[in-house]
Amino acid sequence: MEVVIKSGYEEISRAGAKVVADVLNTKPNAVLGLATGSTPLGLYKELIRMHKEEGLDFSRVTTFNLDEYVGLRIDHPQSYHHFMHENFFKHVNISSQNIYVPSGSTNNYKAFCEWYEERIKEAGGIDIQILGIGSDGHIAFNEPTSSLSSRTRLKTLAKPTIDDNARFFEDRNEVPIYAITMGVGTILEARQLLLLANGKSKAEAIAASVEGPVTSIYTASALQLHPSSIVFIDDDAASDLKMRDYYDWIQEKKPGAPQT
Ligand code: PGA
Repeated sequence: MEVVIKSGYEEISRAGAKVVADVLNTKPNAVLGLATGSTPLGLYKELIRMHKEEGLDFSRVTTFNLDEYVGLRIDHPQSYHHFMHENFFKHVNISSQNIYVPSGSTNNYKAFCEWYEERIKEAGGIDIQILGIGSDGHIAFNEPTSSLSSRTRLKTLAKPTIDDNARFFEDRNEVPIYAITMGVGTILEARQLLLLANGKSKAEAIAASVEGPVTSIYTASALQLHPSSIVFIDDDAASDLKMRDYYDWIQEKKPGAPQT
């Protein structure tokens, strides 16, 4: 796992977007795994800027989103369908038939989840998966104790997640209790993982996931099992890390390393 600490949100957003753009520039028909939440908004803004100003092309890209709330209509302002459309898809030249977001309103969740996994396989697998992290250490909606080999499925959200997400709803009682989410096992199959985190509220989850044992209590700790994962965090999110000097040292010495 490569841990890169930057001075602020703008910096982690730009660094994350550059990693995604590098994938697209070497593979124009790449498959992107996308995340919602406040964290990736800056990364999407930067990708949109690159599209508009530098011609970054999404015409052959396929995307799969990590998760969706159960029970919200796709045009509900807090649905992840709506979030992705407003904050990313409508601003770039992605083809609508190449966009996949889990359904929060199917009448057969089990069949839908199997179908979703099949579509990922059929697309050739995810080249790069963007991830945020919950204050409880979750990735996607894989709440504490989710199996590290779980697949796309229906999950009951943990109370801290409902509390965190209540800020987007007028009333806490409106926050959905269930979600459909890619599993940790699904996420680990992506060729590259890119996790972003900023702010003090993520410091404990970042320290546990990066430096603690691999445990389903912090599902982000599963990144330790992945051969190619990069974590961009700001100073606040890095504040509980014990080995910060080492991560900074690696970044400082990286340009002088022998080329492989
Ligand atoms: P946030 O959510 O980006 O809104 O902090 C992250 C997450 O819960 O995965």
